[in-house]
Amino acid sequence: MKYDFDKHIIRTNTGSVKWDHSETLFGDKDILPMWVADMDFKAPQPVIDALIEKAEHGIFGYTKGLGSYHDAIIGWMKERHKWEVKSEWICHSPGVVPALNLIVQTFTDPGDKIIIQHPVYYPFTKVIEMNGRTVVSNPLKVENGQYVMDYLDLEEKIDEEVKMMILCSPHNPVGRVWTREELIRVGEICLKHNILMVSDEVHADLVLKGDHTVFAAISDEFAQRSIICTAPSKTFNLAGLQTSNIIIPNPEIREKFSNALEANFMGGMNTFGVAATESAYRYGEEWLDQLLVYVQANFDYLAGYIETHLQDLVVYPLEGTYLAWIDCRELGLDHQALEELIHKEAKVALNQGYIFGEGGEGFIRLNLACTRSTLEEGLQRIERAIGRIRG
Ligand SMILES: Cc1ncc(COP(=O)(O)O)c(C=O)c1O
Repeated sequence: MKYDFDKHIIRTNTGSVKWDHSETLFGDKDILPMWVADMDFKAPQPVIDALIEKAEHGIFGYTKGLGSYHDAIIGWMKERHKWEVKSEWICHSPGVVPALNLIVQTFTDPGDKIIIQHPVYYPFTKVIEMNGRTVVSNPLKVENGQYVMDYLDLEEKIDEEVKMMILCSPHNPVGRVWTREELIRVGEICLKHNILMVSDEVHADLVLKGDHTVFAAISDEFAQRSIICTAPSKTFNLAGLQTSNIIIPNPEIREKFSNALEANFMGGMNTFGVAATESAYRYGEEWLDQLLVYVQANFDYLAGYIETHLQDLVVYPLEGTYLAWIDCRELGLDHQALEELIHKEAKVALNQGYIFGEGGEGFIRLNLACTRSTLEEGLQRIERAIGRIRG
């Protein structure tokens, strides 16, 4: 089957956060939304078929999923990521962020320190701070035009109070797919200091260059001291179905997390989420492979456009995710002026870099999981707005 990612699907009046709430959030009814990380594409046809079948069955009572649900996850992890998962390792959560929140509450105490690598997906900071824990920032640094981890800074910042690290792998927003060697280095440091590694791998399937390495697949030592957060939501555009799978090889850590899920009445599953996940992992590969070709082509178009028409901007190489990370500092604007330019002048809704924390100021994050014509329109609007402020 050939999927047509050029087809424009109207998303307004569907309750979409991106398309129906941008006016309220960004204050302009003509704004073009290219921000929040979901896609303007239909999910794979087998997923849609599974959902229709479930809808037609017509009974939506409490759901736990059958053994085949876990088999589908196990099959996907094995085929796509060469990771052998055991059925009992899989815990269910309505989302990765709710899981992170619960993980922070369960495995750390108020006042404990948790390491994250800025600029990073901003809910990481939120779940740490809203639970009264302390963020320790180990900012990424740029070497030869590429973001890398700063291991020296990491070791310097570790003390007795650091109990956990939340890793973004692949990294949102900088688009890195961490190599096995990089993961081994950071993992060894965490092991040495008895720091629990929470690896958020929600973007694991969205890899354009290199290979994603599952943190827990590196060694049994790593597996026993880590929690791997996975979901079909980013990969197959299913975020609204609120289904994620938190995979925990270590039995004690898993038991603690499962108990916390029960204690918070989060043990149930979404009937449609279960059906969609199983179908996506069984039959979604063809769609995903075509999607990645489209996202890569969009990235190439963006890079070409910037080179030709937006020479003050610099786009970072995109190894993973469908989110482009663009340096606008050459424009010489502070973050309010940049925000004003993009949202008010250009009328394009993008995520401003400063929300991702240290190192994000002066950057924008642009969602490439849109039709080429949306991308063209967004870039033309930005080009015209820059032209206007330049006079
Ligand atoms: C790194 C990362 N983790 C988690 C999420 C969201 O996960 P969920 O919708 O399952 O809470 C996102 C969404 O963009 C993300 O980029």
